[in-house]
Amino acid sequence: IWTAGNFIHTEIERIRSLVGEKKVLCALSGGVDSSVAAVLVHEAIGDQLICVFVNNGLLRYREAEQVLKTFRDNFKINLIYVDAEDRFLEALRDIEEPEKKRKTIGNLFIRIFEEEAKKLGDFEFLVQGTLYPDVIESVSFKGPSATIKTHHNVGGLPEDMKFKLIEPLRELFKDEVRKVGLELGLSEDILFRHPFPGPGLAIRVLGSVDKEKLDLLRLADHIYIEEIKKAGLYREIWQAFSVLLPVRSVGVMGDERTYENVLALRAVTSVDGMTADWAKIPYEILGKVSNRIINEVKGINRVVYDISSKPPATIEWE
Ligand code: XMP
Repeated sequence: IWTAGNFIHTEIERIRSLVGEKKVLCALSGGVDSSVAAVLVHEAIGDQLICVFVNNGLLRYREAEQVLKTFRDNFKINLIYVDAEDRFLEALRDIEEPEKKRKTIGNLFIRIFEEEAKKLGDFEFLVQGTLYPDVIESVSFKGPSATIKTHHNVGGLPEDMKFKLIEPLRELFKDEVRKVGLELGLSEDILFRHPFPGPGLAIRVLGSVDKEKLDLLRLADHIYIEEIKKAGLYREIWQAFSVLLPVRSVGVMGDERTYENVLALRAVTSVDGMTADWAKIPYEILGKVSNRIINEVKGINRVVYDISSKPPATIEWE
């Protein structure tokens, strides 16, 4: 019978005998899979594991801080923090086209990761948080999953970086990964966090991206998520997030006429992200979110709710 405890025990033994005295590298995103994989491998080999966390400046509200706190302070993982916000924003400057954003971000991530890996010396092993569904997908489509949905595979590293892969979660489903994570002491906040795309907020600021827009979006989105959690809806929703539209509309604040941005709220229910229904969030909650955002976030004077399902719409707007 499968239990998280047994699984962890067996994996730790396996990783130890596989790795020996060698050093192991891990790209930590802070997402569920890479977090659980990193903590598990750390449990097995301690400081032989070095994690690299790249802050691309496109993360959610206080996300980078949380990652550092969790993995460096709580788990005492050897973590290299790369603040690459400026580099990403510079590379993204004036790019409006979604696929071009994705490519730019993916390529820069790989370059930065390679730079860091080189600085750290020779590594034979790389940890990846691959799950069983990822494995099936790449087998059944004959070839790396990268060929089916390029943009979903941000972790993809260049072929000439030759590592032996350690994929401790490759036989697990998401719910099992969460059980393992809980057993390892990861917080529910991390383990039940909504999926977040590799290109991050860059594809939620429609059109060209800059720091000011990102900060606005981060704050608005934080309010939205906070209210959804307060209402007890977070877990039944697959993804909830905000999108900053490149549209301004007229409003009135006191005696003043305003002319500011529109923010779209998105929330969907789904099993796997392949199809999705827009979430029927109660009007009172939506009303509260809208009021708070318009009052608390300078630069937004109108909030709309997205009532499109997938298909034909996609979950993300870009
Ligand atoms: P769509 O928008 O295609 O999204 O309905 C389906 C799921 O995939 C996520 N998504 C991405 N994840 N890189 C990622 O890692 C991407 O470029 C990307 N685009 C979409 C999306 O958040 C949803 O969970």
